[in-house]
Amino acid sequence: MNSPANPLLHTPTRALPARVAVIGAGTIGPDIGYYLKSAIPELTLYLVDVDQAAVDAAVQRFHDYAAKGVERGKMNEKLAAAVTQNLHGTLDYDDIATCDWVIEAATEDLDLKRRIFARVEALVAPDALITSNTSSLPAARIFSDLEHKGRATVTHFFAPAWRNPAVEVIRWHAGDPAVLEYLRWLFCRTGKVPLVTADVACFMLDRIFDNWCNESAWLLDRATSVEIDGTAGEFVHAGPFFVLNLAHGNPIITETNTLQADEEGEHYRPAPVFRSVDRWITRAPGERVEVPAQTAAAVRDRLLGILFSQSVDILDRDIGSAADLDLGCRLALGFRRGPLELMQAAGEADTHRILERLGRERPGMPMPRRELPQYQRFLRHVLVDDLDRVKIITLRRPQALNALHDELTDEILEVIRTWENDSAVAGFVITGYGERAFCAGADIGRFPEMLGDAAKSARYARDCSRLLVHIDAMKKPVVAALNGMALGGGLELAIRCHALLAVRAAWLQFPEITLGIVPGIGALVVPYRRWPQAAATFHGMLRRADRLSAGKAHELGIIAALADDYAGLIAAAVACVHDLAGRVAGIAEGAVDIAPFDALAANAQPLSREVIAIIEQAIRDAAAAPTLADALEIGYRAFGASACTAAAREGISAFEQRRAPDFSRSG
Ligand code: COA
Repeated sequence: MNSPANPLLHTPTRALPARVAVIGAGTIGPDIGYYLKSAIPELTLYLVDVDQAAVDAAVQRFHDYAAKGVERGKMNEKLAAAVTQNLHGTLDYDDIATCDWVIEAATEDLDLKRRIFARVEALVAPDALITSNTSSLPAARIFSDLEHKGRATVTHFFAPAWRNPAVEVIRWHAGDPAVLEYLRWLFCRTGKVPLVTADVACFMLDRIFDNWCNESAWLLDRATSVEIDGTAGEFVHAGPFFVLNLAHGNPIITETNTLQADEEGEHYRPAPVFRSVDRWITRAPGERVEVPAQTAAAVRDRLLGILFSQSVDILDRDIGSAADLDLGCRLALGFRRGPLELMQAAGEADTHRILERLGRERPGMPMPRRELPQYQRFLRHVLVDDLDRVKIITLRRPQALNALHDELTDEILEVIRTWENDSAVAGFVITGYGERAFCAGADIGRFPEMLGDAAKSARYARDCSRLLVHIDAMKKPVVAALNGMALGGGLELAIRCHALLAVRAAWLQFPEITLGIVPGIGALVVPYRRWPQAAATFHGMLRRADRLSAGKAHELGIIAALADDYAGLIAAAVACVHDLAGRVAGIAEGAVDIAPFDALAANAQPLSREVIAIIEQAIRDAAAAPTLADALEIGYRAFGASACTAAAREGISAFEQRRAPDFSRSG
């Protein structure tokens, strides 16, 4: 079966599940259940355990989470009520007989899991899905006695499972590929990020995590737990010992590394100290720790060494893909950068040095089997699929609602350049990963370093525009398929595509003014040249951050067609590419007239007058500019000017601190 890189391009043969049972009412079981009930509120959910008190506590947790969700504005009362309805805590396996999916989240004990699955299989329909949340035990071992093995696999969630988007889905020899594709589709539809891995002990991400922790424990002969956590802080949000304390992880590492050592060699043997220590001495993440330079260098080398060694092993043995490995480490394990990204940043010479040192100090650890640059040849932020001679480019940065930065836009450009002169390729569709966002704009995380520097900011806008300017000149169609919100820079990308299509639920916005900046990569220019009939709407969007629904954008002629769902959207976008063949229209050159600005009514959230003035001036100047290139340059400079205002400093800090900005003092 053909496996699309974007899971939502799969056409499922099953509907979303209607009745699910989670076995094991410890911590992760109810969290998995809560995620499912939040994503599919009409679902009937059974929480099964052998202990009534555990079941009661699990049901109570649903009520507590839902109440907190409402309090924080993440959930409305109606959804909160639905999440806690059709929820049954039970000790009786007979209750789950009609379930179409049973997820086991019991203790990591192979015999126990096998007993549970024997019991489950005797009760449920032969095509009901059966999955285990084990973090280490291969599917082949857990499911070997099942009669209908094809419907079974491992779906490994990460804490906290109600919020952590990563889920490993295991590809194993007896698993039905259609079930794997369905699970990928289902997880993606419900807001998760499925990562397919091979059926080896500890799969992909726990090989990283367990060995990262184990290496830290072996390093205790030369540094303290506080020093090691402090040094690790360069790479992760919380150091290994802090996380081990949180997760009561010492016995787990002993168990999982024993499994790896028994199967793959003594170098994986767990450090004996795990058996004698209950809790580690740690400091709060982020707290400054003084570490002697030589100690820090040695610890750093070994920590990086283990990451590099595990990463090359994962890729050499095809346990998981390079992009999934980096993304999974960020999403599931709290790494600031993926291990392959760290390897790239270290450079070839230093990576060799670090690996050689690891080889000397920890003989047996896997070493690269290929030249180092070969491990770096992959697309990091986009997925590419082929559909009816069209390349579907999916933006995948789920940690930031697919927000754009220059590396992502350059990657899209690289894909386009690779295929645009190939006569077998009719054109391109750009869409977003998941159902929520096409793209939430430019990555705000990159802004603080630009504040106060007009030239640097303008240059960044120009760099992010390389892709857009290229699309402007293309003859082969590029169609934007808006699968959800399209904000700021994401909308600026969409409006440069030769046609825009959207799902009905999508919406468009330029929120920049609420951040005290201006949208600098075409928003002040392109709308007025492409859709002059909607100029008044764009004035409101740019100066007040008015939202525009996909339906309204369709009425205004900005969006060419609406679709009911993701599958319909992509099908329509592919048809649109074929339809546009040979008649791609460029954006108008030369000066254009613009409608006068309406008065800005005082609204609930006061905005920066200074930045609104920059926007208005730039719109006017760009409209009068003799060429499109001149007009775009005015936009880049306006972004640079806005980055130097006090309002920008206030707006960006407010976003980072998750508070409403106060422009009353910044102006
Ligand atoms: N750049 C960087 N990160 C972004 C982002 C952006 N443009 N938009 C969203 N994110 C991140 C959030 O910081 C958050 O990360 P975290 O989980 O590490 O905290 C994650 O994506 C999910 O977003 P969150 O804000 O928690 O979701 P929400 O449902 O509460 O709100 C939005 C969704 C889109 C309204 C909100 O994220 C937002 O206002 N984003 C900024 C949009 C914007 O101004 N774009 C123009 C930028 S120039």
